[in-house]
This record gives sequence, C-alpha cells and structure tokens, in this order.
Amino acid sequence: MDKTQRTASGMRPTGPLHLGHYFGVLKNYVELQEKVQAYFFVADWHALTSDYADPSMLLANTEAMVSDWLAAGLDPDKCVIFRQSALTEHCELSLLLSMITPVSWLERNPTYKEQQQQITNKDLGNAGFLCYPVLMAADILLYKPQYVPVGEDQLPHMELTREIARRFNNFYGPTFPEPQAALTPAAKCPGLDGRKMSKSYNNGIFLSEDMANIEPKIRNMLTEPSRKRRQDPGDPKKCNLYPYHELLSSQEEQAEICDGCTKAQMGCVDCKKIFLKNLAAFLEPLHERRAKWTARKGAVAEILDAGNAKARAFSSVTMQEVRQKMGL
Ligand code: TRP
Repeated sequence: MDKTQRTASGMRPTGPLHLGHYFGVLKNYVELQEKVQAYFFVADWHALTSDYADPSMLLANTEAMVSDWLAAGLDPDKCVIFRQSALTEHCELSLLLSMITPVSWLERNPTYKEQQQQITNKDLGNAGFLCYPVLMAADILLYKPQYVPVGEDQLPHMELTREIARRFNNFYGPTFPEPQAALTPAAKCPGLDGRKMSKSYNNGIFLSEDMANIEPKIRNMLTEPSRKRRQDPGDPKKCNLYPYHELLSSQEEQAEICDGCTKAQMGCVDCKKIFLKNLAAFLEPLHERRAKWTARKGAVAEILDAGNAKARAFSSVTMQEVRQKMGL
C-alpha cells in the first residue's frame, strides 16, 4: 500500500458506534488513513433506504457517528470525512450504473433476500432498498479505490460492485479498477447477551460510554453457560466474554485466563475484572480525543464541509469521464 492508492468506505448513521463497529471496521479506517488516500463518508442516503418513514434522527446520528470516528482516531488532516448526501455525484453515478445493472443481480443478492425476510417491522419493498447495492457501487467506484474496508456482511455487495465495474468497463472501455474488500482478521464481538452486538438489542458496549455505565452491564453479562458455579471448569471457546480478551488482553493474560477457566481456578468475576481494566485502558484515549473535539463548537459540521469539497474535487473528475464515456 502507498499514498498513490486509495480507499473509500461509508457507514450508515444509525446511532452511536459500539465495540463491534470498532473492531469490525473502524479500526481498519484508522489504519488505512496512514497508508493510502482515504475517503470516508456518512452513508445517509443508505440509511433512508430502510428508515425512510422517520428521518428525524438522521442529523443527530450523523453527528454522533462522526464524533465516534474522531474519537477512534480518524484525523481530518489525514483522511477525507464527508457526507454522501452532500455529493450529487453519488446519485448521478448511481443512476447511470442502474442503467447497466440487471434487476436479477439485485434480486438474487443474498443480503437483500435475507433482510427482506428478517426485517419485519418496516416495509422494504421500496425501489431504493432494492437499488441499495447500486448506490453503494457508485459510492465506491467514484473514488477508484483499491481497498474498501467493510464488515464481512458486506461481501455480497462488494462482489456486485466488481460485477458492475466489469460490465461498465466492457461497454465503455477501461474506467474502473475492481476494488477489494479490506477485512479485519475475524473480529468476533458478541453482544452482552450472546446475540450479535446491535443497537436494537441493547446489548452493546458503546465507544462513547463511560466505565461507570459499562461496569454494571459487564457484571451482569452472560459468560460461559456451562459454568454455573466457580468450581465448574469452563471452556473459553464457549464464553461470551473471552473473545474480548482476545481483542484487548495481553498474551500472558489470555494464557492465565484460559488456564484459570479450564481448571476452575479463576472465577468469572476475576476474569471480568481483567476485562474491565483493559477496556478502560482502551477507551481512555478515545474519550480524551472525543473531549478535545467536542470542546470545539461546530467541529463536526466544519469537518464535513471541508471534506465534502475535497471529495467533490475527486468525484467530479470521475463523473466527467463517466458522462463522456456514456455519450452524455
Ligand atoms: N452498506 C454499508 C453498511 O451497511 C454502508 C455503505 C454504503 C458502504 N456505501 C458504502 C460501505 C460504500 C463501503 C463502501 O455498512
């Protein structure tokens, strides 16, 4: 990787980010801003594809998410932070790509089928939701990136993006490189109740949360189901908390915990204490950076304004090329 290369990625502003977001994707953002030219955006149009009925939280969620990005270490001097909806280039390219995207590609997309079935509290029969991956392909291809940091759940969308790029290049001549997903090596972050960590399950640990809030949640957190009493030997592989030790605890601590758990020498209470200590150390710099940014009134809006202009400088050049190649 080098600074002649690019990365582009976005997240839907659905609320405050949790540890799953951090270890799944955001950590990758922070690393990539050092290595390549980086474009990171708030995918607010994508949020509307499913939450169109009530957009009242969109602005607040945007502000909260960008604050989390800054707290995690994204630096507006090192990467471009912007808002999808501020760049009409994204919807123009999305429209043009929709001309060459067969509806069957969209209908057979596994993420589409899955969400249509699983999400029952809103109607996802709208055209915008079907075209979600076309807009995502536009978001990406505008920046001609080599790498796209995403969670594993986004891999079908990445495949579609490459298929759309290939089809474009076939019709109109070489234009878009085929971007690769940049995945973080299997970060497993179960929710406090063992289900997937998610805002809607209220089972998360949020980046903006302070330890006083987190501690009681961890005290009540489910650990190893077969370890009912301290004298029962446990299996870290079956424990809800252990994946966090793999992310936050030292090798020595991990060895000590594994040993103590399997031999019933360390109880879950002590194991949780080690976790809380390491979590506090992990969150401290995030909280410091957040405090620094929130002290500057209007910082997020300023960052987005400046980022929008920088993103437009790149994407508008891509659009000129695309219009010309498509005979416009
Ligand atoms: N679909 C992504 C998600 O839900 C968000 C997204 C929109 C995105 N456009 C993108 C991710 C472009 C990467 C690149 O997380």
